[in-house]
Amino acid sequence: MTARRDPASWTPESWQSRPRAHQFTYDDDDALTRAIETLRRLPPLVTSWEIESLKGMLAEAQEGKRFVLQGGDCAESLDACTPDDITARLKILLQMSLILVQGTKRPVVRIGRFAGQYAKPRSSPTETRTIDGRKVELPSYFGDLVNAPEFDARARTPDPARMVRAYHHAGLTLNFVRSLCDAGFADLHHPEYWDLKFLRSASLSEEMRARYESMSAELASALRFMEALGEKSVDDLSRVRFFASHEGLNLYYESALTRRVPRRTGWYNLSTHLPWIGERTRALDGAHVEYFRGIENPVAIKIGPAADPVELLDLIDALNPDDEPGKIVLITRMGADQVASVLPRLVHMVQRAGRRVLWLCDPMHANGIVTPAGVKTRRFDDILSELEQTCDIHADEGRPLGGVHFELTGQDVTECVGGATGLCDEDLHINYQSTCDPRLNYEQSIEMAFLLANKLGR
Ligand code: PEP
Ligand code: CO
Repeated sequence: MTARRDPASWTPESWQSRPRAHQFTYDDDDALTRAIETLRRLPPLVTSWEIESLKGMLAEAQEGKRFVLQGGDCAESLDACTPDDITARLKILLQMSLILVQGTKRPVVRIGRFAGQYAKPRSSPTETRTIDGRKVELPSYFGDLVNAPEFDARARTPDPARMVRAYHHAGLTLNFVRSLCDAGFADLHHPEYWDLKFLRSASLSEEMRARYESMSAELASALRFMEALGEKSVDDLSRVRFFASHEGLNLYYESALTRRVPRRTGWYNLSTHLPWIGERTRALDGAHVEYFRGIENPVAIKIGPAADPVELLDLIDALNPDDEPGKIVLITRMGADQVASVLPRLVHMVQRAGRRVLWLCDPMHANGIVTPAGVKTRRFDDILSELEQTCDIHADEGRPLGGVHFELTGQDVTECVGGATGLCDEDLHINYQSTCDPRLNYEQSIEMAFLLANKLGR
């Protein structure tokens, strides 16, 4: 176990003295200072009250009393801050959550990868392309929070002013999300209005079709029953509330929005409810762990197949020395072919050490493949396989899986292959929109929720 780090040595900027993984450089110091000063003066995007309320729900999820559904774009784009995009994202998360409530018989906590999921770690700080026979090297695209995807020098130069634009877009997104929640989403609740075309698809077996149909009929009748008791009961049972989350990669942005609040102790990251540390930035002595150890928000950590159990316990201790309930979420992303050999040991060690954590399965990030034509995709069956194996591993340790983390969209994109509609490699070009990783589309997401509910309900 590592020595406890001194809380007094932490400030929102103390990360700056640590090694920074996956960072880009801002060349213009004055512009950086101006952007940070601007952010510091602006109001928070979320409140400490909401953050503490999420922490309470995560604590209940750690005890097996709630299930967490976290999902959204890999890279949220500033251009996708439109009513259609935002509504589609909420709709798919809401509908999946209702299917999961039905399957797990646990209330579902909905957390979007949105209103700030604008920064991406890259395996290389630069990208080289051959243009007119000449090799051109430019900074990699680090997400809209940092630079722009077009391959030209101006677009790719990290621009601190983008942090202020991103802040505004996150605020607009949250504002619309909150208004839609207040309005109650009436029709989105009802499977009768959902797009369930895939139920008629030829590749779906009769048995699965019958099972999905009976689940959605049961769901519809449960909802009608609750509505008959009065709208409030629908709200109480599956309260329509969304939390926001994003990878806390750009620590200038995160620390500029880290504040003290009246009548509470400590510092809150008020840019989002649940920031997470990525698989590539969770080094114990690195800048990200230093920043995250000082905030009061619940913190999620992505854990890949190379994680070592002792290192994982050190990380949990560094981030949650007092074993506060609801504080730590571990999002495992091992890959369908590796999960069985690596996850049991990690779960076992953490359990044996008696540390309170919530385990989520991200079946997306270690199941990426590239088609022979060079397109990044993921197979529906690999995603499902990692999910099902992860459920079994947790059940063997005596606890149900705590939740799931998906890259998905409510739109009809063609980025992942498989599922009942039989999307194949040749279809990927039809509507491939992601600037980063491939996402499950609307139908694939709904089908995944049915399959997961089925598995968890058994
Ligand atoms: C992501 O969630 O988009 C991501 C980059 O994940 P990971 O850190 O698990 O690779
Ligand atoms: Co991703």
